Amino acid sequence: MNPFEGKNIVVGVGGGIAVYRVCELVRLLMKRGAAVHAAMTKNAQEFVTPVTFEALTGHPVLTDLFDLSQKAIFGHLELGRRADLFIAAPATANLIARIRMGMGDDAVTTTILSCACPVLLAPAMNVQMWKNRQVQENVGALKRDGRFSFVGPGSGTLACGTVGEGRLSEPDEIVDAAEKLLTPQDMAGLKVVVTAGPTREMADPVRFLTNPSTGKMGFAVAKAAAMRGASVTLVSGPVSLKTPMGVRRVDAVSAIQMQRTVNEALGAGADMFISAAAVCDQRPAEVSPHKVKKEALSSELELVRTPDILKESRAQFGDARIPARPLFVGFAAETERAAENARAKLVGKKLDMVAANDVTEAGSGFGTETNRLVLVTAQGENALPPMTKEGAANELLTEALKLLGRRDADAGKGA
Ligand SMILES: Cc1cc2nc3c(=O)[nH]c(=O)nc-3n(C[C@H](O)[C@H](O)[C@H](O)COP(=O)(O)O)c2cc1C
Repeated sequence: MNPFEGKNIVVGVGGGIAVYRVCELVRLLMKRGAAVHAAMTKNAQEFVTPVTFEALTGHPVLTDLFDLSQKAIFGHLELGRRADLFIAAPATANLIARIRMGMGDDAVTTTILSCACPVLLAPAMNVQMWKNRQVQENVGALKRDGRFSFVGPGSGTLACGTVGEGRLSEPDEIVDAAEKLLTPQDMAGLKVVVTAGPTREMADPVRFLTNPSTGKMGFAVAKAAAMRGASVTLVSGPVSLKTPMGVRRVDAVSAIQMQRTVNEALGAGADMFISAAAVCDQRPAEVSPHKVKKEALSSELELVRTPDILKESRAQFGDARIPARPLFVGFAAETERAAENARAKLVGKKLDMVAANDVTEAGSGFGTETNRLVLVTAQGENALPPMTKEGAANELLTEALKLLGRRDADAGKGA
């Protein structure tokens, strides 16, 4: 499921200093599989010539509605008619005002008027310009309209030397916002809680037990659910990953902290709990408040069990009246007989689904970009081919949605 595949995206380029970063945006959109066309305002061409965008997109650039040679290629409304998404970047104060007023005074604004697709604006301007009351009124009016959405602006050092809000969002953030607009919102209205990453069980302030989990699989699940419209809370162990767009992230270090955070999130109501974290099963029995000197270190470390977050949350939140109870999905990282062990986990912890993977397989498990999952449910097994963790996350969510539909149908029959 690649929402960019076969899609036509028109990038409307405004006359701001950030225009050079839009070249990278175009490249990323094309890398994801979209066909990209560019339209430029007259002022944008003062910064970069159309040749750059023509070379990047492989298509002529629409710059002039009245140029007969361009008319022959685009027709008057052709570009807009074919668009699945329009991205205005950089959306200058001037361009935002013209779009808000419904003007059709150049190639960019006329194309926006002529297309029926969603329009994503990525503003970029000096901080004072961004804070300007009329600019904010224009932004507010466009947001209320429903057809227009915004990504950014971010904060930081601006091209004019000032620091503050007004930076064009990073090209990958604009791509994420575009992906959301192109993704069917089949999880809209659902609340999903996801755990990811390892836990860290301290022995003293400088020593801890942990495992090799990087959090990539759980973050991929959180991102995919958010892209599909779910409201996502991601409870993350210590990892070095960027929080996916639109996801509420709460960090936890130890298993005990993670359990407390999960309980709070599930207590607030959830439709799915997807437990992808590699929670340490044991922790040091004693935690020294000070670093234990090397000479005083014992050769033995007494360990105690940590809470089984998934099993205990299933017991605590799983017996509420259907359909109020969340769906419980676990992961099983195994080194042998993955599906068989996953089924034992499914039954033993009364889960709705277990996603099993053999972490000893090449391209599967900790730290890899890909995974090969077997989705085990009471109905059977779905062995997925090797794919990216994002792809695997989407397959898992699609299977979970089917279970949710079945559960709600059963509840309807019982009612
Ligand atoms: C060097 C330079 C940089 C500019 N950068 C921005 C900017 O980042 N954002 C903005 O809103 N306007 C910026 N402007 C002003 C716009 O170019 C001007 O408002 C213009 O009318 C925008 O036209 P357009 O939106 O139709 O492309 C800049 C102007 C200059 C000369």
